[in-house]
Amino acid sequence: MTETARAALITGGTGRVGSTIAARLEAEGFVVLAAGRRDGDITRPDEARALVENAVEELGGLDLLVNAASAGFEPRPVEEVSEEDWDAALDSTAKGTFFVTQAAVPHLRASSLGLVVMIEDVGAFMPWPSFGPHCAAKAAQAMLTRVFARALAPDIRVCGIAPGPVAVEPGQEERRAAETLLGRIGSPDDIAGAVVYLVGAGYVTGSTLFVDGGRSLT
Ligand SMILES: NC(=O)c1ccc[n+]([C@@H]2O[C@H](COP(=O)([O-])OP(=O)(O)OC[C@H]3O[C@@H](n4cnc5c(N)ncnc54)[C@H](OP(=O)(O)O)[C@@H]3O)[C@@H](O)[C@H]2O)c1
Repeated sequence: MTETARAALITGGTGRVGSTIAARLEAEGFVVLAAGRRDGDITRPDEARALVENAVEELGGLDLLVNAASAGFEPRPVEEVSEEDWDAALDSTAKGTFFVTQAAVPHLRASSLGLVVMIEDVGAFMPWPSFGPHCAAKAAQAMLTRVFARALAPDIRVCGIAPGPVAVEPGQEERRAAETLLGRIGSPDDIAGAVVYLVGAGYVTGSTLFVDGGRSLT
């Protein structure tokens, strides 16, 4: 690590999108902790706090937090949603995001970058009938983008990215592509590129960048 390297913690860093963001940030000169559940269960506030402290110790500080961890993306009719389904979605995406970000605040304030990126979902803004808990959790997370942006300004910028279909289940490519304006699915690298854009976009805070091939308009 060079003395000038910026440090990034990526929750969901072992996932499809998060691991791509990690690789892209490393290529941009960041030192990165790409965290998965093995590094701490973020649904537990004590483990969320420990994750941030471990990242700061390992990386020598914290300049960028990317909240990409998420669970509970399971299609289920409203009548069949269980408490476990609800908790899986809300606890990771909303509660986990909140407490990881809360723990990161003093470290981000000490950074000249001081940036939080929420990896949201177009589902935060679209009422998908078979994804009630997921849409509610993502809507909560998108609100946290705005709440934290107000609470932490001007020291820390807080921005959202709402991906469309960028890493879909095998066999779903054609159907998911047809749901977009561009007629194709994207890739995790489209999201990584948006993170890099936000790193350099010093006048952007409190808003969500849609990287969705027009999915949110269909
Ligand atoms: N894939 C898409 O096309 C798409 C579209 C729109 C939005 N998004 C959003 O982009 C983000 C990443 O999606 P993805 O497709 O890359 O997801 P993914 O491959 O399913 O990876 C999920 C990540 O979240 C971590 N995670 C889940 N629960 C956790 C917990 N309780 N504590 C700590 N880590 C936890 C997982 O860790 P482990 O590896 O240890 O399980 C993994 O790193 C999500 O927020 C998702 O909603 C994705």
